[in-house]
Amino acid sequence: MSHHSSYGEQSYWDLRYGGSSSDTYEWYLPWATLRDDILPHLHGVHEPPVHKHAPPSAAASLTLQQIRKGQLKPGHSAASSATVAATAAPSPAASVEGSAAASSAAGSATTAASSSDAVVAAAPSCQRCLSSRILIAGCGNSELSAHMWTDGFRGLVSVDYSGVVVEKMRSLYAAEPTLADQFLVGDVRDLRSLAACRADGCVDAVIDKGTLDAILCGADSARNGGSMLAEMHRLLAPGGVLIVITYGQPSSRLPLLERKQFAWSVSHVPLGPTRFMYVCKKRGGPKPTSSVAAATGGS
Ligand SMILES: C[S@@+](CC[C@H](N)C(=O)[O-])C[C@H]1O[C@@H](n2cnc3c(N)ncnc32)[C@H](O)[C@@H]1O
Repeated sequence: MSHHSSYGEQSYWDLRYGGSSSDTYEWYLPWATLRDDILPHLHGVHEPPVHKHAPPSAAASLTLQQIRKGQLKPGHSAASSATVAATAAPSPAASVEGSAAASSAAGSATTAASSSDAVVAAAPSCQRCLSSRILIAGCGNSELSAHMWTDGFRGLVSVDYSGVVVEKMRSLYAAEPTLADQFLVGDVRDLRSLAACRADGCVDAVIDKGTLDAILCGADSARNGGSMLAEMHRLLAPGGVLIVITYGQPSSRLPLLERKQFAWSVSHVPLGPTRFMYVCKKRGGPKPTSSVAAATGGS
């Protein structure tokens, strides 16, 4: 992606998302692969950071196909769904372009062109996680938001500056308005025009998969990347987390993420050979009702 300057331009994305196809395309990695890495950080937003999600249940199943066809029955608890079978294959155009992008960006074989038949094993059961306010920054036509929704997350807001893709996502999931309506047009460098993003500190977590990368491919990359991060920092509540899924190596991403202006601490882990997850945890937030304090008799 770093050699493809058009990724930094809205017109590129509008064109790419245009046409009659309603196929989806997943950059880098699907939710099924990411969830075990991401969930503990969402849970850590409301301390104590102990991961208490339920073990897999084989009973329920809900597919995005069913949502698209409006087959989500009243009383079917998406939160209890154990299996998510994503059925859409990427369009040929997206596949070709995606492969080209992947090879130019990172030479990686991990680009998940589709999460077809992805099995999501364990749905989270922590109600506080499921009601966390989570911003998906630069959602594109990824199935991440829908997969999180079928996992039971209800505090999602998915934004993209391409009105073309937002309209497509809204019609793709029209049968389930609570999912469709959380797709909104917005520029991650300044989201104050959206009611859901107006107030400082109104978001518990932000998930960015490939959007900072796209911005960094464009003109004025340092300034625009800095604007995006400053906006995410403004939106995060104390203790909240910005999760960045990227091909960017620590040597290129840490100087940006660790700028002194940001009151967050940054950690990172590799996700396979060519992907990374950076977690920026904003300082402050609820004090742990500490198991350490309890164990040591402290207060
Ligand atoms: C590489 S794609 C990733 C899409 C999706 N997150 C995924 O994982 O498949 C980058 C997305 O970021 C969006 N984008 C780029 N710059 C943006 C900005 N300033 N504000 C909002 N969205 C932006 C593009 O329209 C595109 O959908």
